[in-house]
Amino acid sequence: MSSNVIGERLGLRRGDSGSVFRKVLTALAIVTLFLQSATAAETSSVDAPKTEKEKRGQKLFARLCAECHADDASGDEGPDLRGLDLSDQKIRKMIMQGRKGEMPAFKKLDDEAITSLISYLRTLKEPEK
Ligand code: HEC
Repeated sequence: MSSNVIGERLGLRRGDSGSVFRKVLTALAIVTLFLQSATAAETSSVDAPKTEKEKRGQKLFARLCAECHADDASGDEGPDLRGLDLSDQKIRKMIMQGRKGEMPAFKKLDDEAITSLISYLRTLKEPEK
Protein backbone atom coordinates (compact mmCIF):
# COMPACT_ATOMS: atom_id res chain seq x y z
CA MET A 1 0.00 0.00 0.00
CA SER A 2 2.46 2.66 1.12
CA SER A 3 5.04 1.58 -1.41
CA ASN A 4 2.46 2.12 -4.14
CA VAL A 5 1.82 5.64 -2.90
CA ILE A 6 5.51 6.47 -2.91
CA GLY A 7 5.84 4.79 -6.29
CA GLU A 8 3.13 7.03 -7.69
CA ARG A 9 4.78 10.14 -6.29
CA LEU A 10 7.96 9.10 -8.05
CA GLY A 11 5.90 8.90 -11.24
CA LEU A 12 6.05 5.15 -11.55
CA ARG A 13 3.31 3.08 -13.07
CA ARG A 14 1.05 1.53 -10.49
CA GLY A 15 1.54 -2.02 -11.70
CA ASP A 16 5.27 -2.34 -11.05
CA SER A 17 5.83 0.46 -8.56
CA GLY A 18 6.10 -2.03 -5.69
CA SER A 19 8.91 -3.93 -7.28
CA VAL A 20 10.79 -0.78 -8.28
CA PHE A 21 10.48 0.50 -4.75
CA ARG A 22 11.78 -2.81 -3.49
CA LYS A 23 14.71 -2.60 -5.87
CA VAL A 24 15.57 0.85 -4.54
CA LEU A 25 15.40 -0.49 -0.99
CA THR A 26 17.60 -3.43 -1.89
CA ALA A 27 20.15 -1.15 -3.51
CA LEU A 28 20.17 1.05 -0.41
CA ALA A 29 20.64 -2.00 1.81
CA ILE A 30 23.57 -3.16 -0.30
CA VAL A 31 25.22 0.27 -0.15
CA THR A 32 24.74 0.35 3.64
CA LEU A 33 26.24 -3.12 4.04
CA PHE A 34 29.16 -2.14 1.85
CA LEU A 35 29.88 1.00 3.86
CA GLN A 36 29.64 -0.98 7.11
CA SER A 37 32.09 -3.62 5.95
CA ALA A 38 34.46 -0.94 4.66
CA THR A 39 34.64 0.72 8.09
CA ALA A 40 34.94 -2.66 9.80
CA ALA A 41 37.94 -3.54 7.63
CA GLU A 42 39.52 -0.21 8.51
CA THR A 43 39.25 -0.66 12.27
CA SER A 44 40.35 -4.29 12.24
CA SER A 45 43.82 -3.27 11.06
CA VAL A 46 44.26 -1.36 14.32
CA ASP A 47 45.82 -3.73 16.76
CA ALA A 48 43.72 -3.30 19.86
CA PRO A 49 41.48 -5.73 21.71
CA LYS A 50 37.86 -5.38 20.63
CA THR A 51 35.81 -8.39 21.58
CA GLU A 52 34.75 -8.98 25.19
CA LYS A 53 37.00 -11.99 25.27
CA GLU A 54 40.04 -10.06 24.09
CA LYS A 55 39.35 -7.34 26.63
CA ARG A 56 39.06 -9.89 29.41
CA GLY A 57 42.35 -11.37 28.29
CA GLN A 58 43.96 -7.95 28.34
CA LYS A 59 42.86 -7.38 31.95
CA LEU A 60 44.17 -10.78 33.02
CA PHE A 61 47.40 -10.09 31.21
CA ALA A 62 47.89 -6.76 33.00
CA ARG A 63 47.28 -8.44 36.32
CA LEU A 64 49.23 -11.67 35.89
CA CYS A 65 51.72 -11.44 33.09
CA ALA A 66 52.74 -7.80 32.62
CA GLU A 67 55.24 -7.86 35.49
CA CYS A 68 57.49 -10.08 33.38
CA HIS A 69 56.31 -9.55 29.81
CA ALA A 70 55.64 -5.75 30.11
CA ASP A 71 52.26 -4.00 29.86
CA ASP A 72 52.34 -4.06 26.06
CA ALA A 73 53.82 -7.60 26.00
CA SER A 74 56.98 -6.24 24.39
CA GLY A 75 59.05 -8.20 26.91
CA ASP A 76 61.06 -7.48 30.01
CA GLU A 77 62.20 -10.33 32.21
CA GLY A 78 60.17 -12.62 29.98
CA PRO A 79 60.25 -12.55 26.16
CA ASP A 80 58.28 -10.37 23.74
CA LEU A 81 54.90 -12.04 23.18
CA ARG A 82 53.74 -9.98 20.21
CA GLY A 83 53.15 -11.90 17.00
CA LEU A 84 53.77 -15.23 18.76
CA ASP A 85 54.60 -18.07 16.44
CA LEU A 86 53.20 -20.70 18.80
CA SER A 87 50.06 -22.81 18.50
CA ASP A 88 47.18 -22.17 20.91
CA GLN A 89 48.03 -25.55 22.38
CA LYS A 90 51.62 -24.54 23.18
CA ILE A 91 50.60 -21.20 24.67
CA ARG A 92 47.99 -22.95 26.79
CA LYS A 93 50.55 -25.44 28.01
CA MET A 94 53.03 -22.68 28.84
CA ILE A 95 50.43 -20.82 30.91
CA MET A 96 49.22 -23.94 32.72
CA GLN A 97 52.59 -25.53 33.38
CA GLY A 98 54.97 -22.59 33.34
CA ARG A 99 58.65 -23.28 33.01
CA LYS A 100 60.80 -24.24 35.90
CA GLY A 101 62.93 -21.38 37.15
CA GLU A 102 61.58 -19.11 34.40
CA MET A 103 57.85 -18.69 34.49
CA PRO A 104 55.31 -19.73 37.13
CA ALA A 105 52.49 -22.16 36.32
CA PHE A 106 49.06 -20.53 36.46
CA LYS A 107 47.23 -23.53 37.78
CA LYS A 108 44.18 -21.67 39.01
CA LEU A 109 43.19 -20.19 35.66
CA ASP A 110 40.14 -21.84 34.16
CA ASP A 111 39.72 -22.66 30.52
CA GLU A 112 37.80 -19.48 29.82
CA ALA A 113 40.56 -17.31 31.30
CA ILE A 114 43.21 -19.09 29.26
CA THR A 115 41.33 -18.80 25.97
CA SER A 116 40.78 -15.10 26.75
CA LEU A 117 44.50 -14.63 27.32
CA ILE A 118 45.27 -16.40 24.06
CA SER A 119 42.78 -14.32 22.07
CA TYR A 120 44.30 -11.18 23.57
CA LEU A 121 47.82 -12.29 22.62
CA ARG A 122 46.57 -12.93 19.07
CA THR A 123 45.63 -9.25 18.74
CA LEU A 124 49.25 -8.22 19.29
CA LYS A 125 51.20 -7.84 16.10
CA GLU A 126 54.92 -8.08 15.84
CA PRO A 127 56.28 -4.55 15.37
CA GLU A 128 57.65 -3.73 11.92
CA LYS A 129 61.39 -4.07 11.79
C1 HEC B 1 57.76 -14.37 36.73
C2 HEC B 1 57.79 -13.88 35.36
C3 HEC B 1 56.73 -14.32 34.39
C4 HEC B 1 55.35 -14.22 34.51
C5 HEC B 1 54.56 -13.67 35.69
C6 HEC B 1 54.81 -14.72 33.27
N1 HEC B 1 55.83 -15.13 32.43
FE1 HEC B 1 55.59 -15.91 30.58
N2 HEC B 1 57.58 -16.23 30.45
C7 HEC B 1 58.52 -15.81 31.39
C8 HEC B 1 59.85 -16.22 30.95
C9 HEC B 1 61.16 -15.95 31.69
C10 HEC B 1 59.66 -16.89 29.71
C11 HEC B 1 60.73 -17.56 28.85
C12 HEC B 1 60.80 -19.00 29.27
C13 HEC B 1 61.68 -19.84 28.40
O1 HEC B 1 61.81 -19.55 27.20
O2 HEC B 1 62.19 -20.83 28.90
C14 HEC B 1 58.23 -16.86 29.44
C15 HEC B 1 57.65 -17.41 28.29
C16 HEC B 1 56.33 -17.29 27.96
C17 HEC B 1 55.74 -17.78 26.73
C18 HEC B 1 56.49 -18.50 25.60
C19 HEC B 1 57.07 -17.45 24.68
C20 HEC B 1 57.85 -18.05 23.55
O3 HEC B 1 58.10 -17.30 22.57
O4 HEC B 1 58.24 -19.22 23.62
C21 HEC B 1 54.42 -17.46 26.75
C22 HEC B 1 53.38 -17.73 25.67
C23 HEC B 1 54.19 -16.77 28.00
N3 HEC B 1 55.37 -16.70 28.70
C24 HEC B 1 52.96 -16.29 28.40
C25 HEC B 1 52.70 -15.77 29.66
C26 HEC B 1 51.38 -15.41 30.11
C27 HEC B 1 50.11 -15.47 29.25
C28 HEC B 1 51.51 -15.02 31.40
C29 HEC B 1 50.41 -14.59 32.35
C30 HEC B 1 49.33 -15.52 32.58
C31 HEC B 1 52.92 -15.11 31.74
N4 HEC B 1 53.61 -15.57 30.66
C32 HEC B 1 53.45 -14.77 32.97
C33 HEC B 1 58.26 -15.16 32.57
C34 HEC B 1 57.00 -14.89 33.08
